[in-house]
Amino acid sequence: MDNRYSVPGIGIFAIKIRHKDEDYEELSERIGQKHLNRRLSRQMKIIARYNTKRLSAPFLPKNDKLMPTILKFLLNTLGHYQRGMNNALEYRVEKVNVSIDNLPFQFNGFRILQLTDIHANTIMDNGDKLIRILRRLEIDMCVLTGDFRFSTRRVFEPAIRVTERIVKALDPPYGFAGILGNHDFIEFVPLLESMGIKMFLNEALSINKNGDKIWLTGIDDEHFFQCSDIPASMSDIPEKAVTIMLSHSPETYIAAEKAGVNYLICGHTHGGQICLPGNIPILKNARCPRRFCSGQWHYRRMKGYTSRGVGVSSLPVRFFCPPEITVHELNICT
Ligand SMILES: [Fe+2]
Repeated sequence: MDNRYSVPGIGIFAIKIRHKDEDYEELSERIGQKHLNRRLSRQMKIIARYNTKRLSAPFLPKNDKLMPTILKFLLNTLGHYQRGMNNALEYRVEKVNVSIDNLPFQFNGFRILQLTDIHANTIMDNGDKLIRILRRLEIDMCVLTGDFRFSTRRVFEPAIRVTERIVKALDPPYGFAGILGNHDFIEFVPLLESMGIKMFLNEALSINKNGDKIWLTGIDDEHFFQCSDIPASMSDIPEKAVTIMLSHSPETYIAAEKAGVNYLICGHTHGGQICLPGNIPILKNARCPRRFCSGQWHYRRMKGYTSRGVGVSSLPVRFFCPPEITVHELNICT
């Protein structure tokens, strides 16, 4: 069934989101009415902004039409546009070794595949090449760290369909986990969970392996929706337990470290997507220092990683910033 968001003073804007009214009731029970209200009100603001056809949407500048149109014109004029599109399908598998203090023995060598910023409705080949690469990987579990779709104003079914293709192509023994990004609406949660992805909305679960245990937690988007609640997400986790947190954007690094997270897995920045030679991003699209916006980093006691992401945003091109499939391998500190 279709859902309609009513935006006072602007009118009624239909967005085609399949949901049942019970979904909202279940979400409210699960995450609290305050969190749900905040999410829904910010989602309504997105829809309202687009329907007023304002060129300037300061909270989501990359979705504006003007800048991408100018950039596309320039790249076409210079003859680089097609090369940029080809680059966007040149996936690179990044194998990241991360040593974690007090990692339980059974998790030594545990491999977590991270797919982030898939923006699945914009993948030019519907994910064919990505799936061929993913099928060759040996992994223990898969985490999806948000931005399943690109356009926040259009229907999302194409993005969900491609995401489902990707999920069906994999069979990790410890399953799938995910979080929402700043392009995703909360109505996606029941759909993604019906595919077998355990979605974290400021929640946590333990991963148990042969009697040993670590904790995985995931927060709702902070970059735009400002719905992360790190203390709530950590409330079930015993003190000093090894904790891996999924955060769409690295902007949460200070609070995550303060809460005792051992490893923060992030995306969102696309590594800049269009970079200068030497992988130097022109725009970082995150309110944090540049060193947190791509690759491995650390902050005080916490380690972290920000993936360049699978997909593309605004324009289907990449320069000096290949799309990334990340495999995090956990290791005992020696
Ligand atoms: Fe994002």
